Amino acid sequence: MFSLPNKVTIIEVGPRDGLQNEKNEVPTEVKLEFIEKLQIAGVKEMELSSFVSPKWVPQMKDAKVIVESVSKVGRQFVLTPNEKGVELAKQAGVNSFAIFVGVSDSFNKKNINKTTRESMHELKPIVERLLKDGHFVRACISTSFYCPYEGAIDPSKTIEICREFVSWGVNELSVADTIGMANPKESYLLFDAIKKEFPNTLITAHFHDTRKMGLANIFAALQAGVDRFDSSVGGLGGCPFAPGATGNVATEDVVNMLHQMNIETGIDLELLLQAVNSVAPYVSRPIETGMYKLFKSK
Ligand code: HMG
Ligand code: MG
Repeated sequence: MFSLPNKVTIIEVGPRDGLQNEKNEVPTEVKLEFIEKLQIAGVKEMELSSFVSPKWVPQMKDAKVIVESVSKVGRQFVLTPNEKGVELAKQAGVNSFAIFVGVSDSFNKKNINKTTRESMHELKPIVERLLKDGHFVRACISTSFYCPYEGAIDPSKTIEICREFVSWGVNELSVADTIGMANPKESYLLFDAIKKEFPNTLITAHFHDTRKMGLANIFAALQAGVDRFDSSVGGLGGCPFAPGATGNVATEDVVNMLHQMNIETGIDLELLLQAVNSVAPYVSRPIETGMYKLFKSK
């Protein structure tokens, strides 16, 4: 008989993953209101923005203002690809950093303009310094199951990258199905192996929902002992450099599923839906998640 955790932590990635690929320019004040509403709904960990090149990801160009304006209670992450990003984030008062790398070279080249090895080489001293200075470091691992350019990824390659990050002492691994291709069996098997090998590191699952297997993948990962999930309200999201990827699994649908199974999240679903509603008019595609459609039909 499988067992499930009593409590799960949601890391809301809507303001970052959710908006990074949005073609409408979302005004900074709308993002600030969105983030505040998410925090009021009980979200304690969030990816706020990215300190990346504004030429590569124009939507994230207001990272500094965002970070400087919002409450830092809980863990409020920003993505930083390199030394420059880390320095800018530090100047803005960030203390929770998300670094990112793809298991496959082809994706990593498109995303960060480096091979996976070059990225790991660049990141190692950056991570060591951040940890020495007492910062929290989350390592996001893209194309952990499938790559849009190379196809299926050997799980041992993903575990090898995890092993390297853990040897540096990172606090968290966020293991991602970047293009939403993993199935629940693959999800269970990879997360089971990762949970067993790295019992002292926080393990988070990050599912995109391209093929509508996000909730099933979460249920599979729960059974492997995962109790941290990245998700994005409204099912917003996608990486600009991962063709074919749609949004992340929707936070409101994840929270509803967990609550229905008596798993606590600390999130108020009604208030969460109000956060979705605040950003819905500013995004270019209709929000059609199960719980948001119910909310709108009331
Ligand atoms: P590059 O062109 O190789 O870098 O890009 P460069 O060092 O030659 O610099 C080019 C220009 O960018 C220079 O400015 C730099 O100053 C500037 P210029 O002289 O041309 O005016 N620059 C920066 N500006 C602001 N912040 C920085 C920064 N670094 C350089 N940190 C670079 C390399 C990494 C910068 C670029 O490839 C980049 O920004 N990539 C970002 C990619 C990205 O944000 N992808 C989405 C997030 S990852 C994701 O979504 C996956 C995830 O959700 C998990 C999953 O689902 O798989 C996490
Ligand atoms: Mg993502």
